[in-house]
Amino acid sequence: MVNGHTVVGLTQTLFSGIYIILNLSYLIAAPIKKDQMDETPEKWINPLGLDDSNAIFLNSESVPTGKALITRILDQTRIALNQANETKEEFAHRVFNVDSSQLHEDWKSADYEWLPQRRDIHKGLDEPVAEEHLTSLNFDETLVSTYHFLQSIAVGLEQMVKDQGEDGPFLGKFSLSEYNLVLVLQEIQTAIIERGVNDKMKPDIRRGSMPESLRVENNATTKNVRDWIIYRDYISLLQYVWEVFRYLKRKVYSSFDMSLSGKSDSEAPVNEAPTKATPNDVNE
Ligand SMILES: *[C@@H]1O[C@H](CO)[C@@H](O)[C@H](O)[C@H]1NC(C)=O
Ligand SMILES: *[C@@H]1O[C@H](CO)[C@@H](O)[C@H](O)[C@H]1NC(C)=O
Repeated sequence: MVNGHTVVGLTQTLFSGIYIILNLSYLIAAPIKKDQMDETPEKWINPLGLDDSNAIFLNSESVPTGKALITRILDQTRIALNQANETKEEFAHRVFNVDSSQLHEDWKSADYEWLPQRRDIHKGLDEPVAEEHLTSLNFDETLVSTYHFLQSIAVGLEQMVKDQGEDGPFLGKFSLSEYNLVLVLQEIQTAIIERGVNDKMKPDIRRGSMPESLRVENNATTKNVRDWIIYRDYISLLQYVWEVFRYLKRKVYSSFDMSLSGKSDSEAPVNEAPTKATPNDVNE
């Protein structure tokens, strides 16, 4: 009995020793590439480039308030969405020689755990947001959640651009998408600060959220599928952002109007405004 335990204990020790050695060798072999990558600033973190106090920004007269904040988010999202929609089609044709709808069917069940999930945004590509999700939304919380969802997509887009190298066929278009996404993030960050809800923000999504194995993939087919999944989820998320802020704009319209006609913003709590939107309004 005692011997049995000893043997088991020794085996476990041996195996955990091997495990540790393997892990160490991985750490010793891997870091050079990773360090190089980590040196560049993460464009999706603090996209407005504000300092800690935010004092100057908050005192600025030129900052839009109320409804204008949502309008600006929507305008920027539409720009991003139009560009991504065109790029998606071109990508499907040039890389896979199929329509994007076919490509979507082929890879519908594939997704990445580090990107926003269906349980987060309650939709897939070209699907409307589930209505019970829309009606449950709160403006300030939606600002924060969409901000972080967009950050996680930005991590993937960055790698897609990087993998285009100096002259990849989609370098320009993926770069423009990356830029458009940061512009949407800037508008959301503006609204977050203007609403005074920065304290509700979660930790920024970092570059490390994307697994290294996906970055070093060198089978071109596998990499193209990876790019499709990331880009598909980028578009689906933009559609989500568009739909939820359009819904919220309608929902809070009356309280924003009140604030614009004299009452201060703080006296017009956005979350408690009566619901005005109907599903038909939202899909327009
Ligand atoms: C997306 O692009 C396709 C063709 O590229 C077009 O038929 C479709 O109407 C576009 N959708 C949106 C929402 O812009
Ligand atoms: C790349 O991956 C695809 C799909 O898994 C596979 O069919 C193909 O043989 C791979 N190509 C190479 C060069 O390994």
